[in-house]
Amino acid sequence: MQIEEWQSYSVYQIYPKSFNDANGDGFGDIEGIREKIPYLKKLGIEMIWITPMQPSPQKDNGYDIADYCAINPQYGTLLEFKQLLNELHEVGIKLMMDVVLNHTSTEHQWFQAAKQSRSNPFHDFYIWQEGVPGQPPTNWESKFGGSSWAYNEATAEYYLHLFDKTQADLNWRNPAVRSEIKKILRFWAELGVDGFRLDVINLISKPEVFLDDNQGDGRRFYTDGDQVETYLKELNEEIFRPYGIITVGEMSSTSMAACIEYTKPENNELNMTFNFHHLKVDYKNGDKWQLMPMDLSALKQLLSDWQNGMQAKQGWNALFWCNHDQPRIVSRYGNDTDEYRETSAKMLALVLHGLQGTPYLYQGEEIGMTNPDWRSIDEFEDVESLNQFKLLQAQGRTSADAFAAVSARSRDNGRTPVQWNESQQAGFTTGKPWLKVASNYTKINVAECLSRADSIFYFYQKLIALRKSEPTLITGGFVRHDQPEENVFAYDRIAGAEVIRVVANFTDQPVVFEWTNPIHLAETLLTNYEGDATNYQGKLTLRPYETMMWKGTVVV
Ligand code: GLC
Repeated sequence: MQIEEWQSYSVYQIYPKSFNDANGDGFGDIEGIREKIPYLKKLGIEMIWITPMQPSPQKDNGYDIADYCAINPQYGTLLEFKQLLNELHEVGIKLMMDVVLNHTSTEHQWFQAAKQSRSNPFHDFYIWQEGVPGQPPTNWESKFGGSSWAYNEATAEYYLHLFDKTQADLNWRNPAVRSEIKKILRFWAELGVDGFRLDVINLISKPEVFLDDNQGDGRRFYTDGDQVETYLKELNEEIFRPYGIITVGEMSSTSMAACIEYTKPENNELNMTFNFHHLKVDYKNGDKWQLMPMDLSALKQLLSDWQNGMQAKQGWNALFWCNHDQPRIVSRYGNDTDEYRETSAKMLALVLHGLQGTPYLYQGEEIGMTNPDWRSIDEFEDVESLNQFKLLQAQGRTSADAFAAVSARSRDNGRTPVQWNESQQAGFTTGKPWLKVASNYTKINVAECLSRADSIFYFYQKLIALRKSEPTLITGGFVRHDQPEENVFAYDRIAGAEVIRVVANFTDQPVVFEWTNPIHLAETLLTNYEGDATNYQGKLTLRPYETMMWKGTVVV
């Protein structure tokens, strides 16, 4: 396999609102990111992805864009953005912009015009259906709860919003929409950005006829729709390829077959895709708001299936545990008690970085940040969490139960400010942060991690470096061990005679693990316990959350 440069990158995701506030208004900013360039460099990542920074009413923290080719003054100016880009480039870090092209804010001037009358030239930029108040055209549900249609009196129609009612879906069938979108992408590409992360890009192709969904919430009618690939090919040909842009598509409720098509090189669509199946193995009955412990066997199966399935057809995975929409992984699939937080965070890191794909790590993950201790619903900011808290109670759940569900599953879990040091507000701001800081910041913070050679930070640094020194991690085939021990995940990456073996205990109990496919162990690449583990042969007792990555050769 020929390696493309980006395939060995590790990407660091910045949620600017919560990253670092340089001017004390409680809201992170571009200057705050610039201050931390040396920190990012030290970690060793090659690219950062920054979530949207354009002007926005912030109903969905920037995923509701009101002006595509400008910077929200709360973050800074376009000039500061350019300086940031230059400074990143000077130290060899690339920048990936988040582009939200499925919908705009209803405050965008296109929508402001579109809603005036059916004859307005911008009317056809959005998706409308006739209707009478109180009777939405279909029973589709918004991803944030409630109907996905909102009524517009001036035209006596409903407009479609798959997300919040202030996020109106664009009509990609209209060539004028696609032409505007290309102008926007060209604007940022000309400015020198290196990558695009395309928000919910597999939702852009809607059906021509809108029908009730008698089997679900409507998603089967608009997910991976029949024109998505055509539209992506168009963007690829006119923008991505000519400008050498690295692309990752966020794929909502997608299928592997679709992700293969989106990413296999000969299709000229995207470089890689995010999917979320592995982050739903703690959803009871597939429902995010019903809690259950993580199903490890389902997790192992999903990760293995996506490894094998994508690899077989030359697709490419974006690998991740955390982002701004997910609770913190250590509180979720790991163990965030004092005793095991570090060990389990390292275990999860190693399991992910051993896989084939491009790893994305989310701010704070490199220091093992946890979900905060929510005390009341008033502490939440996220539109989805606040909607769900009401909806769950309307569905008959007690307020305590609804609060427990939202506390565990809220997207705000991943959005609390980065914990830089033990000073007030964790060094994030000198003002009042827009979202509360987790109270464990005096113990869990960047300064503490940097001061200790065995911290999670340096573990990530090593994992990132291994992707440079070990090409087998990039190219190697994936073989899952058929182990009898259900609490262990073990797999090999194999290229020629070389094997990189990953073994991980997902529990707080020791487990005996025996492998049936021997290799000549040469070297321990990384472990989360002290000592050299090369003397393990065949049968071993893994300590709580113990993990190892070895290098060896196939026994012939
Ligand atoms: C994506 C974003 C999420 C946003 C949604 C709508 O899933 O990651 O934060 O709310 O799209 O734009």
